[in-house]
Amino acid sequence: MRSCLLLAAQADGAEVRTVEDLASGDGLHPLQEAFREHFALQCGFCTPGILMAALDFLAHTPTPRRREIAEMLSGHLCRCTGYAPIIDAIAAAAGTASTEPA
Ligand code: FES
Repeated sequence: MRSCLLLAAQADGAEVRTVEDLASGDGLHPLQEAFREHFALQCGFCTPGILMAALDFLAHTPTPRRREIAEMLSGHLCRCTGYAPIIDAIAAAAGTASTEPA
């Protein structure tokens, strides 16, 4: 679901999670920690959407290939990072970082 394409009324009755819901207490969510470790953000404008999409993606694809991560990201525009660090971070969060070539 892309928030820019969904009317608020269409989400009536649905659970809506935001990036503010990811971390618990003072600790970052493993995805957030992976983004921090891999320098997967610069201005951060795209980061909330990518984190939430990655969370859902990994719930359905727990051991993704890099190509699958790239395909998942195809609906997201990041003007800063060039995507490689984002893919690295998501692969690391999934534990698949060391199993595939870059
Ligand atoms: S980090 Fe700036 S748009 Fe993605």
